[in-house]
Amino acid sequence: NGLPLIMGIESSCDETGVGLVRGCELLSDEVASSVEAHARFGGVVPEVASRAHLEAMTPTVRRALDRAGVKLSDVDAIAVTAGPGLAGALLVGVSAAKAYALALDKPLYGVNHLVGHVAVDQLEHGPLPKPAVALLVSGGHTSLLLVRDLATDVQALGDTVDDAAGEAYDKVARLLDLPYPGGPPIDRAAREGDPEAIRFPRGKWGDGSYDFSFSGLKTAVARWVEDAERRGLPLSVSDIAAGFQESVVDVLTRKAVDACLDHGVRHLVISGGVAANSRLRALAEERCAAAGIELRVPRPRLCTDNGAMIAALGAEVVAAGLPPSSLNLATDTSL
Ligand code: KG4
Ligand code: ZN
Repeated sequence: NGLPLIMGIESSCDETGVGLVRGCELLSDEVASSVEAHARFGGVVPEVASRAHLEAMTPTVRRALDRAGVKLSDVDAIAVTAGPGLAGALLVGVSAAKAYALALDKPLYGVNHLVGHVAVDQLEHGPLPKPAVALLVSGGHTSLLLVRDLATDVQALGDTVDDAAGEAYDKVARLLDLPYPGGPPIDRAAREGDPEAIRFPRGKWGDGSYDFSFSGLKTAVARWVEDAERRGLPLSVSDIAAGFQESVVDVLTRKAVDACLDHGVRHLVISGGVAANSRLRALAEERCAAAGIELRVPRPRLCTDNGAMIAALGAEVVAAGLPPSSLNLATDTSL
């Protein structure tokens, strides 16, 4: 297609991502992750992440260009995650993007990481119907957004008041001696367990807000484990995992569907690393079908942090005719 070639650069957390996109067409999506370097700390270490971005950036750009079969000089515009994210990590991507923009004399667009997680769905399912509600669930965020236009009109409806959903999975996995990142092993363990065996609390349930809270749930799981150990009872990891997971996905899907219904929206996008969760997908499908809402969930590879999502949003911003960012673009953590 004759649309502009957008290079997207992502470095907000532990993935160095570079993607090439034309409109809704995905040309390449290369990701270098430093997740293994953080595993022994049980979470992302900002300084380790920044250094890894610095080392991975140029090779990842090269690989993305090679994979797409294009040259650097073919790139029409550069989009980069301006925030939210880890300050030092973001700076590496923003600095690289500025350097490419300056060297190529092409416009630079600083874009929002959260909106990128929504825009990426267009690479898989085509143009996003307007308006849509988006539920973003990852190790770093738990947000509900009302998206009237990807480039110009995105409103935050709710957020976590403490831990992110993925962070809760990671912390509970640690309590259960499961490896990091904790989402996949809990997802697997939960399939063997009974989600009704233990009823853990639902954070901010029925409080009328679109906010979430997961730290009380994590504490409840910790108490359960301590109590069982103190009383010498056998610990059913699969039942605990299933009960914990049910609490998380019950609240996530309930609030997401409510947000759609309250705003008269018929389309829900779920994205972020936790969107890979099998129970979240199943319950969201069930509740969306019951409420007459079309559910869109990008494939897991696109749900986790990557450069293609930033390029996809960049393409929207360019198409909307918004002015480029200045070369003084600062990292920005607001929506
Ligand atoms: O989007 P992502 O790769 O990185 C950011 O945090 O931005 O998300 C990673 C998070 C981790 O907390 C991980 O435990 C969680 O996503 N995760 C899952 C699953 N796969 C990954 N959580 C629940 N179920 C899964 N199957
Ligand atoms: Zn993310």
